[in-house]
Amino acid sequence: MPHLELRSVEKRYTNNAEAVRGVSFSAEQGEFIVLVGPSGCGKSTTLRMVAGLEQATGGDIMIAGKRVNDLEPKDRDVAMVFQNYALYPHLTVAENIAFPLTIRKEAKETIDREVKLAAELLSITKLLDRKPKELSGGERQRVAVGRAIVRKPQVFLFDEPLSNLDAALRAGMRAELKTLQKRLGVTMLYVTHDQTEAMTMGDKIAVLNGGRLEQFGTPDDIYQRPATSFVAKFLGAPPMNLLRGHVAGGVFTADGVRISVSATSGVEGKDVIAGIRPEDFAVATSSASGQEDTIEGRLVLTEPLGATTNYMLESSASISGRIIVSRHGFDPVESSELGSMLRFAVRTNTVHLFDTETGKRI
Ligand SMILES: Nc1ncnc2c1ncn2[C@@H]1O[C@H](COP(=O)(O)OP(=O)(O)O)[C@@H](O)[C@H]1O
Ligand SMILES: [Mg+2]
Repeated sequence: MPHLELRSVEKRYTNNAEAVRGVSFSAEQGEFIVLVGPSGCGKSTTLRMVAGLEQATGGDIMIAGKRVNDLEPKDRDVAMVFQNYALYPHLTVAENIAFPLTIRKEAKETIDREVKLAAELLSITKLLDRKPKELSGGERQRVAVGRAIVRKPQVFLFDEPLSNLDAALRAGMRAELKTLQKRLGVTMLYVTHDQTEAMTMGDKIAVLNGGRLEQFGTPDDIYQRPATSFVAKFLGAPPMNLLRGHVAGGVFTADGVRISVSATSGVEGKDVIAGIRPEDFAVATSSASGQEDTIEGRLVLTEPLGATTNYMLESSASISGRIIVSRHGFDPVESSELGSMLRFAVRTNTVHLFDTETGKRI
């Protein structure tokens, strides 16, 4: 039995906005589930319905086999951490962490013990007497997590807890939160719009777009076999190149692009979208134009990142107007002056095909 399950969950706000449209997925005990998608796709609404802060207008929300749709938030045995942390400014760190236990009227010894344990776990013991305004963003974040931990909930619900932190701190906290979650063995539903957080933290990822679930799977599934062109584009940085073209005689053809595609995929004679990740190009062995399994385009930008370099080519075949090629090393491509025509080979077994109309994987 899954520990947390959403079955065709819907939310229509009273102004008729359909924020969540039939979302289903489930988590086993102790799994880390990331809900990811662009701003406004329904992530927070979904999380708030699980927390009981919004009423679902359709479907079932199950926790440990029990339908919780009609339970009050306090009776659902979940703990939520918000993006802005929602700490009480007039209370100390210790009092903030203790808050859920205090309102439950737990014994003072229990409260002291649990606060101490949580503070140790989060390395904030020295901060217990401070007020929130005397803390850095990262420290506030820990206090908010501490407050969730002491409740010992069945499920953690985190809504973009790292989005207010700077990049370096975010990367550190990412690893810390994941480690903490595994150590506590608590089921986690974690909302983010950041594809790096989704890929690195999730045991499974649910990708939302416009209130619909595009795909639910492991990071490996989502990355290697994206179910839709939306998922293909959303996860991975730089994003997958999406090229619009036509298949004839087993060859996908678009402006400056010729790629052989397997005859078994049933794409002969069709307009399709071909997806190629920036890292799935190789150096072309021949400089002859119009060759099979190559792409070409005029170089408009070189981005040396250190370990890798991104080459941005102008291409009318690409939906974005650009093809990004990512290579190991510091500007490793010869004759890569801006404005020159560059040609790269495509590893045909790495090409993803999508239906032009539905965006679905073929
Ligand atoms: N309280 C509300 N009343 C009406 N519409 C809302 C409310 N909260 C969110 N929405 C709408 O629902 C959609 C999803 O919002 P939200 O779940 O906050 O998205 P996300 O967290 O993915 O950015 C958006 O179009 C948003 O404008
Ligand atoms: Mg949100």
